[in-house]
Amino acid sequence: MVMTYKKYLTALTAYLIAINLQAQVSAPTGNEPRNPKGVPGLEEGQAGALNRNWLLNATDDQERFRRIQIYAGGTYEQMWQVGYRYQQVYQAIIDENWELGLHHWVKLRDVFNVALMKRPRRTPNAEAMFLDNAWKQLEEALQGGDAEDIQEVFLRERGTCMACHIAEQVEFLNDTPSFRDTANFPPE
Ligand code: HEC
Repeated sequence: MVMTYKKYLTALTAYLIAINLQAQVSAPTGNEPRNPKGVPGLEEGQAGALNRNWLLNATDDQERFRRIQIYAGGTYEQMWQVGYRYQQVYQAIIDENWELGLHHWVKLRDVFNVALMKRPRRTPNAEAMFLDNAWKQLEEALQGGDAEDIQEVFLRERGTCMACHIAEQVEFLNDTPSFRDTANFPPE
């Protein structure tokens, strides 16, 4: 029997829904769950079954917070986002979208402070070199809306990021496309 076009479409839709549902639920492998060797203390901290309840099935809140703290990582977790938002600020300045630039610049500061909450030894350099003074200069420039001024201040901020990487002994982070590509207006 020849399928009508309508029937064909109905069958195709049903098939697509079926494979989509399959994709959402990964098939169990049958492997026994076990704790990774790379995180110490998980075995001792395990109370309930070893499954996706990695927090709920821990022995107590002390162990739960310990696991969350591991999960939250170090400076790098936020600095990754700082790097992204820094590039977005640069692009917003090229587009003369001051509001967007300000949006990313404010988020960048907030996320930076989260990094310092986790790694307080970074705070002295971060505040002295960046947050207490330098950061505000670009905020004010973006609020002022003078393109030339904004560009000039952004390039100074770039220098501040790089100077702190030197001060914190991670200078190798400066030799990246992210800093190379943001060295001029307009981009080269
Ligand atoms: C405290 C001074 C300090 C300032 C100011 C600073 N950084 Fe960092 N940055 C660091 C440190 C320290 C690391 C390495 C973190 C780690 O290894 O956990 C880092 C890492 C990074 C990384 C790599 C993150 C990753 O993926 O692992 C990027 C990208 C970055 N910074 C961008 C910037 C940008 C852009 C600015 C300026 C807006 C900036 N940083 C300002 C200290 C600073």
